[in-house]
Amino acid sequence: MISGLTDIAMPFLRTLDPERAHEITLRAMEAGLYPRQCTAEDPRLAQKIGVLEFPNPIGIAAGFDKDARVPAAVLASGFGFAEVGTLTPRPQNGNPSPRVFRLSLDGAMINRLGFNNDGHEAALTRLKRRERSGVVGVNIGANKDSPDREADYVAGLEALSGVADYFTVNISSPNTPGLRDLQAPKELDSLLSKLMAKRTELTSNDVPKRPIAVKLSPDIANDDIAPICEQILAHGVDGLIISNTTLDREGLKTRTHVNEAGGLSGAPLYERSTALLAKVYVHTKGQIPLIGVGGIHSGETALGKIEAGASLIQLYTGLVYEGPGLIGRIKTALVNGVERAGAKSITEIVGSKSEDWAAKT
Ligand SMILES: Cc1cc2nc3c(=O)[nH]c(=O)nc-3n(C[C@H](O)[C@H](O)[C@H](O)COP(=O)(O)O)c2cc1C
Repeated sequence: MISGLTDIAMPFLRTLDPERAHEITLRAMEAGLYPRQCTAEDPRLAQKIGVLEFPNPIGIAAGFDKDARVPAAVLASGFGFAEVGTLTPRPQNGNPSPRVFRLSLDGAMINRLGFNNDGHEAALTRLKRRERSGVVGVNIGANKDSPDREADYVAGLEALSGVADYFTVNISSPNTPGLRDLQAPKELDSLLSKLMAKRTELTSNDVPKRPIAVKLSPDIANDDIAPICEQILAHGVDGLIISNTTLDREGLKTRTHVNEAGGLSGAPLYERSTALLAKVYVHTKGQIPLIGVGGIHSGETALGKIEAGASLIQLYTGLVYEGPGLIGRIKTALVNGVERAGAKSITEIVGSKSEDWAAKT
């Protein structure tokens, strides 16, 4: 019934301004109007990564629920985990509207939101209220006008360690000027030293050691992959999320909005982000869990990320075009992929085609 309602609502939502449509979706979810997963999870899709247990490997990507308004609804609708944020210490409005654009012919979006969010405190209040079940990660960033960006990330750990099942350090948004410079090995070394020291300080009987993942840009140069991975491994980072949106605009069919500033997400990002994922998998020899995100819009593209090296996947733009039915289709395709490979679970097929993907330029 509710799923039927969603099917009717989707074409209507797509006629609205994207940000308005998104707000309506969040409000509907807050009001309990969303499709629930009714069938039991296939145990072959379960993943255990470090201390975290995932009923299935599909997560909602950061940006969908920036202010932690609906993590429980996201989980109840069939996702295996939710990531909220990006959250900055102080609330900020982000860039002027319009700042989100649909490129419908390409199944893509461009956004330059610029970390619009209610800040740490508001999210903390919401996350404290939630029942602690399921995996909810918190994506942290820096305020645009921050005099000390590193301190903003450290403040994220400090404020939200009590409520985050894991943290994502977002140093790859193209919409905060200079933020991506933090991916440079020297900067990364300095930031990670501070974050790891803070995590140790915060870990106690009440607060377990929270896993920390770093989210990378798909636009990093091939030559930078090795030095970045070295820093990640040296600091004992628990995971990498590959990738954020791209500044690249090559090969788009849509004629309108293509020249808008911002990050491109959705189907055209798939090849680029999956190739980077595989390169990092091959380079790190699978030593560090990877979360594959960028352009997933079907069961096959989701399976492709796992085969390229992702232990978990996330999506956002595919959901806008395909609707919530996409989650069930992805689960079916993943189970079929496991069966076809003669494997017992999804874990066994992670990275099975990483060499092929990594060979792509
Ligand atoms: C409207 C919008 C807002 C986003 N906001 C964030 C954000 O706040 N933090 C972040 O790390 N990524 C953000 N992203 C990037 C997504 O998390 C994801 O990395 C990217 O969209 C690629 O996945 P997709 O092709 O499945 O959308 C945003 C993406 C979109 C479309």
